[in-house]
Amino acid sequence: MKKIISFILVAVMIVTSLAAFASCGKGNSAANGKSKVKVYEAYDLTAEKYAFAVAKENTALKTAANELLAELKENGELDKIINSFFDGSSTFTYTNPVSSVPTGADRENYLVVATNAYFPPFEYYEGDKLSGVDMKIASLLAEKLGKTLYIYDMEFDSVIISVKQGQADIGMAGMTVNEERLKSIDFTTEYYESAQVLVVRENDTVFADCKSADDIVTKLKAQEKSFKVGTQNGTTGYMYTAGDEGFGYDGFKNLTCSGYTTGALAILDLANNKVDAVILDKQPAKMIAESTNK
Ligand code: ARG
Repeated sequence: MKKIISFILVAVMIVTSLAAFASCGKGNSAANGKSKVKVYEAYDLTAEKYAFAVAKENTALKTAANELLAELKENGELDKIINSFFDGSSTFTYTNPVSSVPTGADRENYLVVATNAYFPPFEYYEGDKLSGVDMKIASLLAEKLGKTLYIYDMEFDSVIISVKQGQADIGMAGMTVNEERLKSIDFTTEYYESAQVLVVRENDTVFADCKSADDIVTKLKAQEKSFKVGTQNGTTGYMYTAGDEGFGYDGFKNLTCSGYTTGALAILDLANNKVDAVILDKQPAKMIAESTNK
């Protein structure tokens, strides 16, 4: 009898200590919660230029868009538009007048713009209205052409194909000009210079002593497969991280590149400890980080 009681006692002790151990683990990760993130905005990992994508045969639209961009550069409007979305002073928003992509005879009355509207300050939602630098320029282009604007929001990696196939007339999506993309579509003149930058959690120690873009690259190269970098699918950030011959990037084959449908989801996973870093276009990275930290 004594033996049985002491056996039960020991068993109970083992079970309770195991339970305490498990809940301690859980408690720790819950206490970690959502971390704040920071952007290494001073260290450009790439040098990129944005332009609008048009189908190779659509020279009339390319000419019109180039004329508009030349005018906006000439009269200083382009800088004003860009600044107003960077500092948040713009009040421009746009709502599609119809609920689906125009088809049939009506199609030619519309300028259909392909974008991925999760890329502030270039394209984003304000409630259910569209806004951003590219959306404002799209409205000016439609006006110039005497057409009604329809913004066709889609996954970023569908933008080029939809322009190539004519579902959309033009891609306006903070899109970087690149030789590989030029194989399937054409680009207008450039309107903005950008770069990929690194985003990490505020308490990160891996990159803490980096003093240059080269330092960041060295650190990225020193990580192991378990180190995850989040990027947006189909973007130059993805190509830079995963490597892509056509885009001219070797990539970081030592680590894991995780593709997300939007940069915001990648940064949210960073804040939630699901990835170790994010690589994204600079201004979107800054704005998304700011709203994630709120
Ligand atoms: N500049 C990058 C690229 O061209 C990212 C663009 C992402 N744009 C967007 N609207 N989500 O690949």
